[in-house]
Amino acid sequence: MNKICVVGAGRVGESTAQFIASRDLCRELTLVDINEGAASGAALDIQEDGPLFKFDTQLKGGSDPELMANADLVIVTAGIPRKPGMSRSDVMEVNIKVTDEIVANTLKYAPNAMMLFVSNPVDILTYRAWKKTGWDRNRIFGQAGVLDSTRMASFIAMETGYSALDIDAMVLGGHGDSMVPMMRYTTISGIPVSNFMEQKAIDDIITRTRNGGAEILALRQNSSAFDAPAAAVAVMVDAIVNDRKRILPSVAILDNEFGCKDIAIGVPTVLGKNGMERIIELELNEQEQQDFDNSVAQVKKDLGILATL
Ligand code: 2OP
Repeated sequence: MNKICVVGAGRVGESTAQFIASRDLCRELTLVDINEGAASGAALDIQEDGPLFKFDTQLKGGSDPELMANADLVIVTAGIPRKPGMSRSDVMEVNIKVTDEIVANTLKYAPNAMMLFVSNPVDILTYRAWKKTGWDRNRIFGQAGVLDSTRMASFIAMETGYSALDIDAMVLGGHGDSMVPMMRYTTISGIPVSNFMEQKAIDDIITRTRNGGAEILALRQNSSAFDAPAAAVAVMVDAIVNDRKRILPSVAILDNEFGCKDIAIGVPTVLGKNGMERIIELELNEQEQQDFDNSVAQVKKDLGILATL
């Protein structure tokens, strides 16, 4: 990939740019933010660690949307973050406006790009951008499940004492309190976690995963999570840039998969050079279906509010 543009030079945007540059995932990386100095300062700061991390990606930052010109991928991290006690939906109204402007600039300056949404509520913003652009759904997707899954895997590692390297976790659904941790598909070296943990410990991990973002926000008070979110974005970008065909959960537009249409929500996807190349459908058992339906209902509630804005 030649050029990636990260919109939003807050903590998530800056960490995302750092991971992408230091993993050599593009030749040119721009950071765009309404705060000119925040974006140009972050770009220069990251550029200066190139000799240490051994990367030569060219970074530039500023507030001029022309910095998006001809980007192959636009990563959206801009918008207002949650404050302690707020839900992701509480920031929707403002972040829809921010999204609409970024979409307009993308259509103008980077009409052939793909868009990866990170800002919240991510399911709703991804949907909004898909509607506004009219693009094929493979080009517009969001990050949520990779973060939620790595959180759950970390909690399982802490609880069992086994290496995080051996844990594969899967979390689907909307990126909110109704997300759907898929314990049946979560394993330690291929062995279901139920072999290692009592149901009570599993239930506690499900609850902690659902509150994963709020837990960090409550600890920091003045900032949401940014290290793990940015790492999750970098993993998705790596899959796309290197055409790995990795199966990772993404926020994707459904077209009859999982029995849903005209909605963006977290499902297992194949990520490769064409972006969100395919959705992998899974058979859900009764409980999983009920949880997924509940998550769909939550996202639809926000889509209903979106329709009134
Ligand atoms: C998180 O889960 C802020 O949604 C983000 O940390």
